[in-house]
Amino acid sequence: MLKIRHEKSEEREIVAQINRQAFGDETESTLVASIRESEHFIPQLSLVAERDGRVVGHILFSPISIQQSDVTHPALALAPMAVLPDFQRRGIGAALIRRGLEECKRLKQQVVVLIGHPEYYPRFGFKPAREYGLSLDFDVPGEAFMVLELEKGALKKIGGVVKYPPAFNTET
Ligand SMILES: CC(C)(COP(=O)(O)OP(=O)(O)OC[C@H]1O[C@@H](n2cnc3c(N)ncnc32)[C@H](O)[C@@H]1OP(=O)(O)O)[C@@H](O)C(=O)NCCC(=O)NCCS
Repeated sequence: MLKIRHEKSEEREIVAQINRQAFGDETESTLVASIRESEHFIPQLSLVAERDGRVVGHILFSPISIQQSDVTHPALALAPMAVLPDFQRRGIGAALIRRGLEECKRLKQQVVVLIGHPEYYPRFGFKPAREYGLSLDFDVPGEAFMVLELEKGALKKIGGVVKYPPAFNTET
């Protein structure tokens, strides 16, 4: 049985292990730790997938901003998400995203951005962010930078540069 639920505080190490195993290095587990320690961590937006009592997947959404001239719009970033290699391609990632997006809506969020596999996220409604007038202040292949409106039309009046907070600068 698959259950998607909020992460418990004692599951931090398990979540770190899932990220290490899924990505094959420390980058994303370090990113999760860095976001957790920052003011931008929202516990309700750190979800785990539990299969038959074992935590096998994790997804995190956290606040970023969209800078449009002198106006700053709030938004969320999906980053990172991971499913243990032995449990991939069974719909667990999809269940994490769908439930995660529901939680984001429940918190009245309107926009989610991400940088990720262009083959994976469009099935959940993510679109190329540049088509909506969004940009980044660092280099990323165009199609990897995606956005989703949680409220229809939310991006009609919002454009500008997506700014990731310092917690995302983990390469030091
Ligand atoms: C990406 C990931 C979270 C998806 O979780 P999942 O439980 O395997 O996903 P689902 O079962 O819902 O969906 C499976 C689909 O994901 C896609 N997918 C999985 N890994 C992918 C990858 N590395 N690149 C592109 N697409 C991928 C495939 O299209 C697959 O569909 P298919 O079975 O028809 O081929 C998981 O594969 C993972 O942890 N990968 C390693 C870490 C990672 O890349 N995280 C995301 C960073 S953007």
